[in-house]
Amino acid sequence: MAAGERPATMRAVQYSGYGGGAAALKFVEIHVPSVKKDEVLVKVEAASINQSDLMTQKGMMRPFHPKFPFIPVNNVSGEIVEVGSAVREFKVGDKVVSKLDFWALKAIGTKFDGSGTSGGADVLITAASSGVGTYAVQLAKLGNHRVTATCGARNLGLVAGLGADEVLDYKTPEGAALSSPSGKKYDYIVNISNKNKWSVFKPRLSSHGRVVDVAPNFGNFVASVVTLFSRRKKLSLVSLKMSKEDLGLLLELMREGKLRTVVDSRHPFEKAADAWARSLSGHATGKVIVEM
Ligand SMILES: NC(=O)c1ccc[n+]([C@@H]2O[C@H](COP(=O)([O-])OP(=O)(O)OC[C@H]3O[C@@H](n4cnc5c(N)ncnc54)[C@H](OP(=O)(O)O)[C@@H]3O)[C@@H](O)[C@H]2O)c1
Repeated sequence: MAAGERPATMRAVQYSGYGGGAAALKFVEIHVPSVKKDEVLVKVEAASINQSDLMTQKGMMRPFHPKFPFIPVNNVSGEIVEVGSAVREFKVGDKVVSKLDFWALKAIGTKFDGSGTSGGADVLITAASSGVGTYAVQLAKLGNHRVTATCGARNLGLVAGLGADEVLDYKTPEGAALSSPSGKKYDYIVNISNKNKWSVFKPRLSSHGRVVDVAPNFGNFVASVVTLFSRRKKLSLVSLKMSKEDLGLLLELMREGKLRTVVDSRHPFEKAADAWARSLSGHATGKVIVEM
């Protein structure tokens, strides 16, 4: 193939039905998609696996089921190699990222640009060592909140290093009860672990405290319905979309060194199944990355 010529095919990982975990991933060669007028084609350089990708394979996202065979993962970074005729905002050669996890902090009204710094709030962040949690702790501190965080014993130092004021080992009785070492109640709980329950959150909230749940289990889903119109303690499920401005702000924070990505492990494309298995373990510290 001559230099600059468009390749006809590309590598991909896909699966053809629900279940099967890492063993069900198949390495295939597929056609490079053609670009519609309002689309861009990105040569992916790295991808990070999200719990929602794993849940999709398990069939937990039905009825939004994928069309099989399905290529998982939508958190990617790379370079634009083709643009559609109607695209004005991007050009070939631009480096792009698809998304970053921060909506939970936005949902509690956090301002990262210094405009909302008066006072801050008492915030508990659960599973602070997770890919989502490591960003959440840093962003909460940038938003001037006072942060209590939960994680496993091996990550207490890491989470404190990200800025958390108090860190609880979730396997201790105090950690399981989400009880702040200083005895305070939380204005907000950002819940990133699907093991925590509303009955445990409720006594830890201040009188008008709110749980923002990004990893709801069935009981917390019910609590979100029951507390929907509550003027006092309540639990809300978060489904916020990130705007282009939000993403730009996060990238700026990263360029300035104020926000960092904690990487659990990097895997070459050929070992994508190992990355999948690592994410499925539920014990990653930060992000699991696949590099092309
Ligand atoms: N709503 C959405 O759109 C959305 C998007 C992305 C992610 N999420 C949710 O966010 C959650 C985090 O996902 P992730 O991929 O970032 O990470 P993850 O792989 O689920 O998190 C693993 C980390 O969490 C820690 N952990 C596990 N259980 C814990 C508990 N009960 N208390 C405190 N820490 C605990 C583990 O510590 P040990 O190894 O020490 O046990 C490990 O470091 C998932 O539940 C996912 O569904 C939601």
